Amino acid sequence: MLCLSLIFLSTLLLHGAPQVLTDPFEIVNLTAPDGSAMANFIPLGAAATNLWVKDKNGRFRDILLGYDNLTMYETDPNHPNFGPVVGRYANRIRNGTFTIPISKDASGPNKFQVPKNENNGTNSLHGGYFGYDRRTWSVAKRTSSVVTFTLVDPAGEQGFPGTVIAAVTYELKAKATWKISMEAVATEKTPIMLSGHHYWNLEAYEETSDLIGHFAQFDASRVIATDGHLIPTGDLLDTPGTPLDFRVAKSIGVSINTTEGKDYCGTDCVGFDNCWIYDGNDGRQPAFSVWSINSGIRIDVVTNQLALQVYTCNGIFNASQPIPRKASHGGPSLFYKKHSCLVVEQESWIDAINNPEFGVNQIYEPGRPYSWGSTYIFSVQEFS
Ligand SMILES: *[C@@H]1O[C@H](CO)[C@@H](O)[C@H](O)[C@H]1NC(C)=O
Ligand SMILES: *[C@@H]1O[C@H](CO)[C@@H](O)[C@H](O)[C@H]1NC(C)=O
Ligand SMILES: *[C@@H]1O[C@H](CO)[C@@H](O)[C@H](O)[C@H]1NC(C)=O
Ligand SMILES: *[C@@H]1O[C@H](CO)[C@@H](O)[C@H](O)[C@H]1NC(C)=O
Ligand SMILES: *[C@@H]1O[C@H](CO)[C@@H](O)[C@H](O)[C@H]1NC(C)=O
Ligand SMILES: *[C@@H]1O[C@H](CO)[C@@H](O)[C@H](O)[C@H]1NC(C)=O
Repeated sequence: MLCLSLIFLSTLLLHGAPQVLTDPFEIVNLTAPDGSAMANFIPLGAAATNLWVKDKNGRFRDILLGYDNLTMYETDPNHPNFGPVVGRYANRIRNGTFTIPISKDASGPNKFQVPKNENNGTNSLHGGYFGYDRRTWSVAKRTSSVVTFTLVDPAGEQGFPGTVIAAVTYELKAKATWKISMEAVATEKTPIMLSGHHYWNLEAYEETSDLIGHFAQFDASRVIATDGHLIPTGDLLDTPGTPLDFRVAKSIGVSINTTEGKDYCGTDCVGFDNCWIYDGNDGRQPAFSVWSINSGIRIDVVTNQLALQVYTCNGIFNASQPIPRKASHGGPSLFYKKHSCLVVEQESWIDAINNPEFGVNQIYEPGRPYSWGSTYIFSVQEFS
């Protein structure tokens, strides 16, 4: 699979990729071969819009947040990034600058500037104003259970060097298993960090609209320390003995309140928006697990990534522009509220391109392709 898509991407690079413009809102409907899961995707952002798996009673629930009105994926004012691929460089870039080769705080030569689209124009977020979430991807392959979207990201777009050709493949497999692969190749040295930006509520807002019944477990004894705007400082924080410690399973909703005054998600913010470093992820056993004791729905994630961003929807509710819930979540007269959902991004160390001390090489070039793989395994857990 990996080799085939790399050959495919390299062929596109050599011969010039035909950018087949598809309808950004054309629904791609996938079903697992055994009927255990169903999902919908759209070419805009290569986004996952709905995902149904069975709960403890064997009834399907749609556990992904999104919009029923698909045009809102394009027109939404505060753009929460519901379900897309984020890139060319996910998360934040300090001052929107970096150098190649990399240097601390972009102090070296050969400097690049990308849009400062967050925090009042002081840093870059998710690849700038026109990130991968805003592009219409092409549908390169489609069966009843697999879809591959491709994207040509031209040199200079949003200020990034070199053309990047990216492919994301979503596959629904038997036993409610969702496999996601992202591959990318570059014509010049450039930073690449992709991720999937999915908002989850494993209860589909049926029993509760908080995260108290959501539990998580993952082995990470360090997070990347950040400033009040969530920009990495270059330091790491130890999680043991703090609300950031999820090595032993605990309620996410209960933990959110214990973050008060800690500013883990930025100045005066309550909740989590942090990048945890996995202690020893072998890429075969689940690195991250989350479940709801109310619906019984559980996700175990196997990934090749080094780190994990978890965001507890701290800023999702804006009273002047509340986001209507999908009908499958009790909408549209109800809204998505603060601390009612969870974004889980398997990724690399954030802003490593401005922090050489992290020792993580995120510069890709011809002969060094980028590869991201995560498998989401859904199951039902009984609680007495
Ligand atoms: C997706 O396909 C399945 C199986 O063909 C069908 O039951 C379902 O209604 C479809 N869903 C949508 C949203 O088109
Ligand atoms: C969908 O959203 C668009 C704005 O993006 C709006 O103009 C349109 O009226 C909405 N459609 C429905 C059916 O609500
Ligand atoms: C870069 O960002 C940091 C905060 O992340 C800020 O202190 C510094 O002034 C910024 N530098 C420039 C040149 O904007
Ligand atoms: C944003 O920047 C403008 C211009 O520098 C400044 O007047 C304003 O107070 C800033 N707002 C915030 C929230 O920092
Ligand atoms: C968390 O704090 C909020 C606001 O003070 C409160 O409404 C809620 O009940 C608390 N949750 C828990 C689990 O203590
Ligand atoms: C809330 O939404 C309004 C309208 O889109 C926007 O102007 C404002 O900046 C938003 N507030 C926050 C805190 O994001």
